[in-house]
Amino acid sequence: MKSKILQLLKDSDGYVSGEEISKVLGVSRTAIWKVISHLKEEGYVIESVTKKGYLLQETPDLLTEDEILYHLKTKWLGRKIVHYHQIDSTNKEAKKLAASGEKEGTIVISEEQLAGRGRLGRTWISPAGTGIWMSVILRPSIAPTDASKITLLAGLAVCEGIKEATGLPVQIKWPNDLVLHNKKICGILTEMSAEMEKINYIILGIGINVNTDSFPEDLKNTATSLKIEGEKEYDRKEIVKAILMYLEQYYELYMKNQDMEDLLEKYKNHCLTLGKEVKIIHRNEEFIGKAVDLSKEGELMVEKQDGQVITVFSGEVSV
Ligand code: BTN
Repeated sequence: MKSKILQLLKDSDGYVSGEEISKVLGVSRTAIWKVISHLKEEGYVIESVTKKGYLLQETPDLLTEDEILYHLKTKWLGRKIVHYHQIDSTNKEAKKLAASGEKEGTIVISEEQLAGRGRLGRTWISPAGTGIWMSVILRPSIAPTDASKITLLAGLAVCEGIKEATGLPVQIKWPNDLVLHNKKICGILTEMSAEMEKINYIILGIGINVNTDSFPEDLKNTATSLKIEGEKEYDRKEIVKAILMYLEQYYELYMKNQDMEDLLEKYKNHCLTLGKEVKIIHRNEEFIGKAVDLSKEGELMVEKQDGQVITVFSGEVSV
């Protein structure tokens, strides 16, 4: 009932009377009043005026299920959101849920992470209310060896989602770091549980620095936020909704075609790495080369200084 009352308030240009809500939802005025008090406790600013009704004046800046579901255009992705104010890591929680049978498409989001995890065992700083710290549960019926393609298409979807919601010129640094003006604004940590031939689940952990004001000294030169670069605050909810829309679309496209051709064409348009000199640290070998193309599988094709072209799938690339 809370979501429905909220929706009525959001959809209205002015006051909504208790009588109207009671008629539409078939609930008592006292029940409505209780929900309104609850919403106020959550941070919604709602004016109540005798004989006029209720007016929604302000919505809290929170990534709750009610906020994300409102006008969300997806069919199944993000239709269930598990929201926390504080948690150790959304990936850890999503893994627990997935292991106990949670369905594909469910998302765990937290306003703050106390032990956010990055790739290669690094920590991911996730302060309260300033970023998007979320994990998506997927159960693709593909071979475990193809899982890295989900990571690539996630990078593309997040890039396009952020671009659409903010208008900022975000780029992808292969395979799936997102950068703005050459500094990192988003990282994706993909974790998988699989058997030889079958994936049980994939957790896509997405961390985006949205309204972060500053970074610690050791990260200042390499990390940034949308706010620092765009010089204004951005609406986190709108970014999440746009990302979910692209992610569902691209995931469905890949699952349907079982190939990356169309997606890689889009990916290449946003990819900052292609054409650049890159340093690759791959299987303990370090070398410099030029990133010349992506293979059909999404591997980076790198021309070494001796002219030999090799393909790299995972590994660390610095431009
Ligand atoms: C990277 O190192 O580039 C990946 C960073 C991934 C961070 C996100 S934030 C949400 C999710 N939960 C985590 O603990 N990590 C991922």
